[in-house]
Amino acid sequence: MRASHLNKALAYLSKLEQWMTSLKYDQNEINKEGWEKVALAYSGDSASEDDPNLREFARNEFIKRLDGKHVLEVGCGPGTDAAKFHELGFEVLATDYSSRFLDVVRERYPYLKVKLFDMVQPESLHQKFDGIYGFGSFIHIPRELCCESLRNLNGILKRGGVLCLQLIQSSKGIEQYYIDDWAGDPQCSMLFNCYAPVEIEAQLRLAGFTEVEFLTMPASIYDEIPRLIERGITGYFVFARAA
Ligand SMILES: C[S@@+](CC[C@H](N)C(=O)[O-])C[C@H]1O[C@@H](n2cnc3c(N)ncnc32)[C@H](O)[C@@H]1O
Repeated sequence: MRASHLNKALAYLSKLEQWMTSLKYDQNEINKEGWEKVALAYSGDSASEDDPNLREFARNEFIKRLDGKHVLEVGCGPGTDAAKFHELGFEVLATDYSSRFLDVVRERYPYLKVKLFDMVQPESLHQKFDGIYGFGSFIHIPRELCCESLRNLNGILKRGGVLCLQLIQSSKGIEQYYIDDWAGDPQCSMLFNCYAPVEIEAQLRLAGFTEVEFLTMPASIYDEIPRLIERGITGYFVFARAA
């Protein structure tokens, strides 16, 4: 092949790579726009937990593994868990990439610290935490951005700090799916990602985490939701430590 042909081919490949990269981020932006649209509907009229036993279980399991008081919640939504961590005496920073959710948090819990934070973007918090808690949020990150998002989270944990994510897996081998009409909005189609534990463990280790540990989700309202049953979806928690 002549040098000029080779250069053209390389330029084409580089453009293709840029295009593929922008697609991954585009999907994250599409999800974000979706959450902005449904944030108020998702938050409901008042602060309440629809699955209090499960939430308490999850918070307690996280707290058991936490060594310190500084907690970052990622994808906090309406702030229910962040408010509980605050009640329990933790210094919590409630974050989400949707400003509408943060408005709800400010209105419901004016004493909470809140900040816009997108897990797929490199660190912008200028602070390190003893623990990071994400309930139902990481599953919306485009799977092509899984490892780099985990790396971002690792970068804002203190050494030995613990990450706790609530994730889903599918017994039918589904990797990702979309729900149209999400939160009752015909304009919102939402992406969900399923991870087999071995897969997320590999990604966590690649992202620099150690001591990966799994916990099955106890029985909850999610066991009866038809859209989850038909896809063979069950939830679990993963804990991992920043090396
Ligand atoms: C299913 S809701 C869960 C909200 C809350 N954790 C709860 O349990 O009620 C998912 C949340 O993750 C947030 N989220 C999704 N992708 C995110 C990202 N890349 N960075 C930050 N937040 C994200 C959404 O805005 C939304 O608030």
